[in-house]
Amino acid sequence: MPLPSLPASRFEGGCAFADGAYVPLSEAKISLFDWGFTRSDATYDVATTWQGAFFRLDAHMDRFFASLEKMRLSIPYTRAELREVLHGCVRTAGLQDAYVAMACTRGVPPRGARDPRLAQNRFYAYALPYVWIASPEKQAAGIDLHISSRQRIAPASVDPTVKNYHWIDLVQSLFDAYDLGRDTSCVVDAEGCVTEGPGFNVFAVQGGVVHTADHGVLEGISRRTVIELCEKFGIPLRIAPLPVALLRGADEVFLSSSGGGVLPIGKVDGRALPTFPGPVTRRLQEGYWALHEDPAYRDPVAYI
Ligand SMILES: Cc1ncc(COP(=O)(O)O)c(C=O)c1O
Repeated sequence: MPLPSLPASRFEGGCAFADGAYVPLSEAKISLFDWGFTRSDATYDVATTWQGAFFRLDAHMDRFFASLEKMRLSIPYTRAELREVLHGCVRTAGLQDAYVAMACTRGVPPRGARDPRLAQNRFYAYALPYVWIASPEKQAAGIDLHISSRQRIAPASVDPTVKNYHWIDLVQSLFDAYDLGRDTSCVVDAEGCVTEGPGFNVFAVQGGVVHTADHGVLEGISRRTVIELCEKFGIPLRIAPLPVALLRGADEVFLSSSGGGVLPIGKVDGRALPTFPGPVTRRLQEGYWALHEDPAYRDPVAYI
């Protein structure tokens, strides 16, 4: 599906793809009546490019198509066409290090209709300059992670393995964190175990063992990279419910996200961790970025 690329100047700072065409970000629009907006009835995914190549794009597209199916949404593009659209956004924006989103909303059902089957689903994509969960400077200074007592929406209500916009719990936990002078937050499940935060999975390292939650979370692609790196490096890994006490008593804590990879945590609830950045976190962080050189995970953008 050849799609035209437009002159780069209009696309300074990013490029969107909506209604079948590349448009400058300021021209990308969604209806006020789209259920994606009024009901969070949408799914999305975020891939990245680093130094001119997508990282693990196949994994992101697999997760996006799986989410579409679980949500009973569909897009009018094949996998090859989706890949071309995402490459096109990055190419048109001329970005080397990019945040590349793909989203599908339920759309607008006929006026007055309450039946989601009557809505025409909408597909959007866009590329922006790479977005960090926390800047490298903030990471070096030590991110202070607030463990919120707010519960993540129950997995029985919203399947967390579908990447979704049900973020009210996460956003409110961020307000709590900022009120306390902390940098970011994570939320718990009904049993009080740590789940995830706004845009990231959470890991604790205790006695050389890496721990992360087994359920109630988005199965992050960066989380998967961390799991695979642990296997590769022979670092013991336990994927099980993550009690708050384990996080508070950990030797090291880190986050994983496409927004920065492996991000070391300096403090939990204002208390400095004993090792920061700890040796396990650093090894995984180096491993994460080294994988960006691996041809198996790189999908280079053909710039004009
Ligand atoms: C709620 C949530 N958990 C975890 C993640 C991390 O996923 P990934 O590693 O695929 O970026 C994200 C990413 O945005 C997220 O929104």
